[in-house]
Amino acid sequence: MSTRSTVILGTGAYAPRRVLTNEDLAHTVDTSDEWIRTRTGIRERRIAGEGENTSDMGVAAAKAALADAGLVPADIDLLVVATVTPDMPMPAAACMIQHKLGVPTTAACFDLNAACSGFIYALDTASAMLTSGRYTKALVIGVEKLSAVVDWKDRTTCVLFGDGAGAVVMGLGAEPGRGLLGTKLGAFGESVDLLCIPRGGSAAPATVESLANGGHFIKMKGKEVFKVAVRAMDEAARDILEQHQLRADQIALVIPHQANLRIIEAISEYLELPMERFFVNLERYGNTSAASIPLALDEARRSGRIKPGDVTLLVAFGAGLTYGSALIRW
Ligand code: ACO
Repeated sequence: MSTRSTVILGTGAYAPRRVLTNEDLAHTVDTSDEWIRTRTGIRERRIAGEGENTSDMGVAAAKAALADAGLVPADIDLLVVATVTPDMPMPAAACMIQHKLGVPTTAACFDLNAACSGFIYALDTASAMLTSGRYTKALVIGVEKLSAVVDWKDRTTCVLFGDGAGAVVMGLGAEPGRGLLGTKLGAFGESVDLLCIPRGGSAAPATVESLANGGHFIKMKGKEVFKVAVRAMDEAARDILEQHQLRADQIALVIPHQANLRIIEAISEYLELPMERFFVNLERYGNTSAASIPLALDEARRSGRIKPGDVTLLVAFGAGLTYGSALIRW
């Protein structure tokens, strides 16, 4: 195992301008602000504008992260994009972002699909590639345009999701014990059908009939996902703390995947760590899948919730069902 460390040199985020409130949704499906708020904590979400794509949002977040790091696109030799909503099934959104941003053609560019855990998977991947010594500066982006794959007639899912992007710039660290201390990744592949887009892939290419039946939209068994999510996030958090011989109370801030306030409250209870130690912004964005953690991370940093020397815990679950956790010392 490499002894080199990787650090986050800058963070950035982007949220589309259009705000869709719970009240707005109550005009189009049989729901209410009260139901959505009490079951999820969400008040509003952002929706990408006409012609605004995943790659555009990714570029905006990346520009902010590069500016924060004091770097330019020419410095980047690795570009990893965590997303389940690339502009097209092929090629990767990473290549579109590379071109729009002006990242050199010598940079490695690829997408990674681990749904809502995607950003933590991407951090781990970029970190391993950096410590291999073959790359020097990585741009890691989590971005989603979930509004394009949500069935706006299905009240059980459409109230949950939103669009957005977050990004970090990573490089090699000079001080051991600082930066990305470690990650823990995994998946429960037996639960694929709890949360999926069943049609439109190679097993069931889109047909007129599948489009008419909404097979290309997100389908979710919410109650079952809830249970696995709480268990997976709790275990992923405990495992990584144990691996690094840390107690929960030594974590200055937890940045959980922003899916549902009740899931976060359950994790807070299980870890016996008060909610004040959890960063929550889902009331304004809903669940933005792979974008949720980097968007929250950027807001947490910019609002002064992260101080030098602090240890931050990232923890997520998502379709797959994947899960992941990461520890960062700043
Ligand atoms: N408005 C009003 N009523 C609704 C709505 C709505 N938007 N949605 C569902 N209901 C109704 C249901 O039809 C049901 O009615 P019934 O009792 O007459 O059958 C009732 O409300 C209760 O529904 P439940 O599904 O039991 O509600 P629950 O308390 O489980 O909350 C929720 C549903 C919010 C989806 C919850 O289960 C949840 O958050 N699950 C986790 C989902 C999640 O985090 N997914 C993201 C995964 S991450 C990724 O990879 C994308």
